[in-house]
Amino acid sequence: MHALPLIVGNWKMYGSVGALAAYVSDLARHTSALAGKVEPVLCPPALFIPSLAPLLHSTTMALGGQDCHAASEGAHTGDISAKMLKEAGCRYVIVGHSERRSAYHETSATVRAKAEAARAAGLIPIICVGESLDEREKGIALKAVETQTRESVPEGMNITEFLLAYEPVWAIGSGHTPEMSDIAAMHAHLMDMEGFLGVRVLYGGSVKPANAREILSIQSVAGALVGGSSLKADDFGAIITAACGG
Ligand code: PGA
Repeated sequence: MHALPLIVGNWKMYGSVGALAAYVSDLARHTSALAGKVEPVLCPPALFIPSLAPLLHSTTMALGGQDCHAASEGAHTGDISAKMLKEAGCRYVIVGHSERRSAYHETSATVRAKAEAARAAGLIPIICVGESLDEREKGIALKAVETQTRESVPEGMNITEFLLAYEPVWAIGSGHTPEMSDIAAMHAHLMDMEGFLGVRVLYGGSVKPANAREILSIQSVAGALVGGSSLKADDFGAIITAACGG
């Protein structure tokens, strides 16, 4: 069976519990007719997950965490384990987001350990990779992202057990996106790597209603990881609709 396009909303550290019910009912207006055509995923701040989970029961939307710790449990003040996310109702977890790599100095080895922990807990890790502006300008983006991917994905992890999210660091939150041909070339490159044949690759970085249809119509784009434009239900709904060709 052909996998559905996955449209993942990463709320980062935005939103409030009081706004969840209105958000879900607004979004459901866009998505209820799209059952079986697309899988929308919400990755809210972890504190919202217990309130959001029951609101999603009668919808086609899934839940994901924004990050998890690499250990299954332990003395890690402020952290959340993959098992806790699973227990709270998550199906996915984002690992290796560039904001975590830069603000928390997470290495690809850490990201790999988190992805492993996610799998062990029964979650599907969405493993983020992407080149810096410097790497893009030097013409080494393909090589840089290939290396980062090899270092971030656990050895031997089957391509059905994880997704990649290609997010050029310079495109995140900037309003700038790569040329469509550059997105297509990167996705094709990743999907062609030895050991990664056919891996599903989401695109992320300034996806919005105005460009979603063009980006999502690229054959090698398996879906999108959406930050800012996932915060408004109508914008996110328009992107989810675009994934179905609407
Ligand atoms: P953006 O963020 O859509 O706001 O660029 C994407 C991301 O950080 O995953």
